[in-house]
Parts: sequence; structure tokens; C-alpha cells
Amino acid sequence: MSALALPPKVIITGASSGIGEALAVCFAAKGCALGLAARSVSKLDSLAQRLRADYAVQVETIALDVQDQASIVIALDDLVARLGGIDIVVANAGITGIRRSGRDPLSIDLAIFQTNLFGAIATLDAATRHFLKQGHGHLVGMSSFSAFAPIPGSAAYTSSKAALTNYMNAMRLELLDKHIDVTVIHPGFINTHIAPKMDKYPFVINADVAAKEMMAAIERKQVNVIVPALPWRFAKGLLQHMPDSWMGFMVQRMMKKSSSKKAN
Ligand SMILES: NC(=O)c1ccc[n+]([C@@H]2O[C@H](COP(=O)([O-])OP(=O)(O)OC[C@H]3O[C@@H](n4cnc5c(N)ncnc54)[C@H](OP(=O)(O)O)[C@@H]3O)[C@@H](O)[C@H]2O)c1
Repeated sequence: MSALALPPKVIITGASSGIGEALAVCFAAKGCALGLAARSVSKLDSLAQRLRADYAVQVETIALDVQDQASIVIALDDLVARLGGIDIVVANAGITGIRRSGRDPLSIDLAIFQTNLFGAIATLDAATRHFLKQGHGHLVGMSSFSAFAPIPGSAAYTSSKAALTNYMNAMRLELLDKHIDVTVIHPGFINTHIAPKMDKYPFVINADVAAKEMMAAIERKQVNVIVPALPWRFAKGLLQHMPDSWMGFMVQRMMKKSSSKKAN
């Protein structure tokens, strides 16, 4: 295995806001060179400027829509060339959306799968091509706690994340003897702009706090991580044995609570 360059060179998709942006700050604080991708390139550029000024690190940016899978290989290759190599790729870009089965347009669900699952798979696959050639690398995927907890109205979101988790765990076994690490992160509720009023959700934490926990898990090369660990690790065990009627009741209460807090 060739030696890992220190500090590592890291590419993050969906780095223009929320968890991706907070992770970029954490990696920059460790002295890592960064390649940042998202659709909003102006947001990436102002983040890059801030990181270069605060941490004196190399930061490269590129406009990328992960729904356009053909453009992912091109963007990754471009960033790898500008960084002069790559050690860690974080497939973080993601969207959510509410759709009522049999009532709302299927296009809502297709866009969610296209971004969260096929966009992430294409990102991880493009990274794996580099990692196989150089004989090392670390794949990180942003799944969700909802991979373990089907949520009514979010069938596409929760199943896109469940599929990503299984896909990446299969990749890890496939790549065991190739010196390629695979980390799947399952966030609980993190206060970002992914959905309205995220700050009103139960047990929500800020993105910078979440990113520090994620960063520690990446450094330890953990394989499946739940962030924050509590209460969600405990909840995972409970949910697996919960009857549908209880689950429906809990989700309804949670939605009502967050919408009544929204009105306040
Ligand atoms: N917040 C939570 O509670 C939570 C919980 C579980 C999992 N997650 C996961 O964490 C990841 C980050 O979400 P977040 O909460 O940080 O939300 P966010 O603030 O909305 O960030 C999402 C990021 O993904 C990018 N993105 C969206 N569609 C894209 C596309 N087609 N191509 C390229 N980039 C795209 C966005 O950038 P542009 O719009 O500029 O492209 C943005 O940088 C997602 O995968 C999400 O599913 C979040």
C-alpha cells in the first residue's frame, strides 16, 4: 500500500451549505487540501476564500450537479488534477421532499433517487477508480438515520438512504483487500436548510457540532456511524420492533409538534 499523504486531500460534494460546509471547515482546520463541489458555485467560492484566509489551505471549487451523472467523473478528475491527488471523497450532496403515494407527481421521488442514490453512487464509483489505481483511499457517504426508520411522506428519501447504506456496505466487502476504507454516516436531525424549520425537530444539533463528530469517525475509519450517537443508537433498536400503528402515531405527533412550533 502506498503511504497516505498527510494531511489528506479531500473532495466533498454538496459543500455549499449545511453538513458539507461544516465538514469542509473541519477538514480545513486539520490542514487538508480541499476540492469542493455543488451547484451554487458562488457559495463555494466564498467558502473557499474564507477557508484559505483562516487556515492557509489549498481549496479548489467546481460547479457540479450530481443529477447529471456523466459530469461527475469529469468534475472529480478535474479536482483530483488540481489538488495533485486524492485521499478521501465525501459523497454528501442530497435533497429531501415530501410526496403522498398515489397523489403527488412521481417526478418528486425520481429527483430524490437521482440525487441521493445514483448521484452518490456515481461519485463513489468515480473516486474508487482513482483509489484502485493508487492502492489506497477512503470513501465516505452521507446516508441518514431514516435508513433505519421508514417515514410516511418520505418514502423516496428514506429508501434512497437505506439503499445507499447497503450499497456502501457491499462496496466495503468488495474492496476489503484493496486498502480502500468505507464509512457510512447516518445523521439524525441536523439544523440545516435541507427542510423547513429543521431547528424545531426533536434532538436536533447544529451542523458544526455534527461535523466534528463525523470528522472523528472518519479519522477512526469507523464503518457505520450514527451522529449524534444519542438518542439515535438507542432509538434504532426500539424502531425495529415497533408496530406500524405506534410508528404512525409517533411521526404524526412529531409533525404536529414541529408545525405548531413553526406557527409560534
Ligand atoms: N440535515 C439533516 O437533518 C440530515 C439528516 C440525515 C441526512 N442528511 C444528509 O446530509 C446531506 C447534506 O444535507 P444538509 O442537511 O447539509 O442539507 P443542505 O444544507 O441543504 O445541503 C445539501 C447540499 O447538497 C447540495 N446539492 C443538492 N442537490 C445537489 C445536486 N443535484 N448536485 C450537487 N449538489 C447538490 C447542495 O448544494 P447546491 O444546492 O448548491 O447544489 C448543498 O450543498 C444530505 O445528503 C442529506 O440527505 C441530513
